[in-house]
Amino acid sequence: MSEKKVLRLAVLVSGGGTNLQAIINAIAKKEIRNAEIEVVISNNENAFALKRAEEAGIPAIKLSPKKFGTRAAFNEALKEIIDSTGVDLIVLAGCLLKIPDELVAAYPNRIINIHPALIPSFCGKGMYGLKPHEAAIARGVKVTGATVHFVDADLDNGPIILQKAVEVEDTDTPETLQRRVMEQAEWKILPEAINLIASGRISVDEANHVHIKK
Ligand code: GRF
Repeated sequence: MSEKKVLRLAVLVSGGGTNLQAIINAIAKKEIRNAEIEVVISNNENAFALKRAEEAGIPAIKLSPKKFGTRAAFNEALKEIIDSTGVDLIVLAGCLLKIPDELVAAYPNRIINIHPALIPSFCGKGMYGLKPHEAAIARGVKVTGATVHFVDADLDNGPIILQKAVEVEDTDTPETLQRRVMEQAEWKILPEAINLIASGRISVDEANHVHIKK
């Protein structure tokens, strides 16, 4: 049987890197087969995610927009690095960067993002970090969760790959809810989505609906 081509990943991070760690762990435990992280790129030079990459022996690049005269120059440098590593899939794992249109255009349905809510709820401009959880508690929803989706030119708008619901408890604070959504949803569906893509089981139809081959 022909060896399937290994799916080469670039993982973009900005913060603690717990989603990156979930991917690293899943590859080590062979819950993700046929994929390798080629590079971790952080727009935040102090991101703990960079330490996680170092510990795992994964090349990590700090690319701070502050080091570039213009955003266009930063965007160009980001695309050059990604193009030069020849990756197949770009994974936004706790990445708070606006992905440049030219990168989205160059990698159609080859960029995925994890959002800490059940899109289309609690997503879009300004909905990052604790904010989706604050909004979920304020609205009084009984379930929230996480979504993995392909990235298109709009924010939190591309084809949905996987979602996982998490109960909201009366005693929840945004912090306790965020933790449960990460533990019970994000850290599970992001590796699962990568594994599905690596095994060629994901397709997107003309209506931009994702189908998973059994
Ligand atoms: C998580 O809530 C994730 O959903 C969001 O960023 C937060 C931190 O993620 N995208 P990580 O620990 O840096 O992976």
